Formats: sequence, C-alpha cells, structure tokens
Amino acid sequence: MRLFFNGEERVTATLAPFVWAAPTPEIEIFLSTQMVDEARHSVFFDSWWRAVPGTDKKDMASLLDDVRPAVAGGYNELFYDRLPNVAQRMANNPRDLDALVEGVTMYHIVIEATLALTGQRFTLDQMRQEGNTGLGFYQGFTAVARDESRHVNFGIKFLQEAIRDDADRFAPLVQRTLVDCLPLITGTLEPPDGDQRYYTDFGRSQDEVMDYAMSSLNKRLQAIGINLAA
Ligand SMILES: [Fe+2]
Ligand SMILES: [Fe+2]
Repeated sequence: MRLFFNGEERVTATLAPFVWAAPTPEIEIFLSTQMVDEARHSVFFDSWWRAVPGTDKKDMASLLDDVRPAVAGGYNELFYDRLPNVAQRMANNPRDLDALVEGVTMYHIVIEATLALTGQRFTLDQMRQEGNTGLGFYQGFTAVARDESRHVNFGIKFLQEAIRDDADRFAPLVQRTLVDCLPLITGTLEPPDGDQRYYTDFGRSQDEVMDYAMSSLNKRLQAIGINLAA
C-alpha cells in the first residue's frame, strides 16, 4: 500500500509535462483526463490510509512523507529520478517527441502495465479469496485498476502509432528505455530486506509475481510491435 499510495502521487505530479508535449489535441485531451484519474487515486489512498491504518499526519504531504517506502531501490530510482527527469525534459521542450516516447514507455508500460496492474491483480485476487469484496477498499481499488487499464491501452496505442510512423527512430528508443528499466522492475518487486513473507504470507512467491509481471510486459510489447531480445 505504501508503494501504491506514494506511486499514485508521483504519477499525478509528473503527468502535466506529458500533456504539454502531446502532439495532437486528442492525445492532449486523453492525458488531461488521465491526470484527473491519478489525482483521484491519490485522494482515494489518502482517505483509506486515514480511515483504516490511521495516522496523526494532518495533510497529504506529511502522510506521504511518513508512508514513503524506506527500502526500495528500484522504486526510488524509477519514481524519484527517471520519471521526474523525463517529465522535466518535456517541460523544458514540449516538442521533444523522443522524451514523450521514452516517458510513455516508462509511465504507461513499465509503471502502469507492468508494476501497477500486477500489484492490483494479486491484491484484488487475494481479497476475493478472503471474501472481502464488500469492503470499500475492494470497490475503490477495482475502480482504480479499471482506470489503469484505460491508461495502459492509451500507452500501447500511442507507442504502436509512433513505431508505425517512424520505426527506425522510435523502436530502438522504446527498446532501450525498457532494457534500462528492467532492473528497476525487479528492484521494485524485491521485498524490504529480501523478506519473502511479504509474498509467502499471502500464499505467493516472488518468482510467481515476477513471472506474471514479465509476461504482462511481453504481451504489451507484442502489441506495440517490439521484440525485447534482452
Ligand atoms: Fe493511478
Ligand atoms: Fe494510471
């Protein structure tokens, strides 16, 4: 939940430059609706945190600071270094289409399609097995996952079209971005101090979750028309 809550705020904070860099009004409008979704997801987690785990933090900034994962190498690099950097490149030059293609690969394919949807799938599965579908969290999180699928579909279509228009320019760029991000995916799924109970307490294993994440990633790449030879 720390990864999700903090992650939702990170993706809310970094999406505006993607809107500025949108090459068409259709993309600009889609990304604007996505920004509202991400803001709503952040508020959902803030409300849940206050209602369920509980906190004495008065505002969202201090709560986020409190819940921010302490040990998560891949996660920190992805959300606090790579993603803000690529967003900053778009902020500096909204005509930088390479930055937008790299940004969508990182944001929509690595973060949303591979990490978020995997975590959501296992979390919702677990709640169904425990008969917890009546909880507000289950219903809210199901709505979040539905939004994420919508975002991922946009990312796939955007990259498909970019590669169709100029494969020599964009295919290697998407490929290189993904190869750079692979260790960050592994790093994000690594539990704190390697403690496997984060998985085994729920009848899962790290390998199972990692395999699911990588096969989701491969399916998206096929749809986009990219071969990840690595
Ligand atoms: Fe989200
Ligand atoms: Fe999203």
